[in-house]
Amino acid sequence: MTAVAIDGPAGAGKSTIARRAAREIGFIYVDTGALYRAVGLFMLQQGVDASDARAVTPLLRRVQLTLTFQNGEQKVILCGEDVSGAIRTAEVSMAASNVSAIPAVRDFLFSLQKDIARNNDVVMDGRDIGTVVLPDAQVKIFLTASPEERARRRYEQMIKKGERVDYDDVLSDLKTRDYNDSHRAVAPLVPAAAAVIVDTTGNTLEQSVKQLVAIIKENLQYHK
Ligand code: DC
Repeated sequence: MTAVAIDGPAGAGKSTIARRAAREIGFIYVDTGALYRAVGLFMLQQGVDASDARAVTPLLRRVQLTLTFQNGEQKVILCGEDVSGAIRTAEVSMAASNVSAIPAVRDFLFSLQKDIARNNDVVMDGRDIGTVVLPDAQVKIFLTASPEERARRRYEQMIKKGERVDYDDVLSDLKTRDYNDSHRAVAPLVPAAAAVIVDTTGNTLEQSVKQLVAIIKENLQYHK
């Protein structure tokens, strides 16, 4: 099976760009952040502090998580319920960032991610895909953009969905998550050694997709 690993910070446009690129090359698109979000949501539902490893770890046994793919669209099923929409709130974002720093959570989600890549050609997006989950991926890309641009994109997305948010809050949340994600002890967010770094600041979505598809195709050819 062939794997394209796409890592990078929150709001770099990874999911939109990676989803489109996957469709163009006929691979399934796997958003691994959704798995951390589902675990975060589960802990919120249980009334547990998502940053408390001792409280979170024993509860993982009860987390039943599956990803399904319909027409290339990923759905997240948590304990029998489709939570694909419910995991997209600001509260769940922060809980996801918190649980993602817990080694037991990362171990728990590691095999799930591995299994999907074992059975499918994937474009997998996350923070540690090229470094930890799929170190043998044929293509590794690190997608980033300036914090202000990433916050602006996220802000516009939320406003479009009818959420009431403040740009400064979005920016400060994003900076907190960046800090957490890149300073945690396990699997911190760093580009893989062989990753192609793509900065999407100032690009339109179309330009970024085009650039990504070109990099993927070029690298896959090289690996044939
Ligand atoms: O990409 P996202 O915003 O949906 O990710 C949610 C959180 O999960 C984010 O704070 C970082 C974490 N995450 C991770 O640690 N490793 C991954 N492979 C994907 C996401």
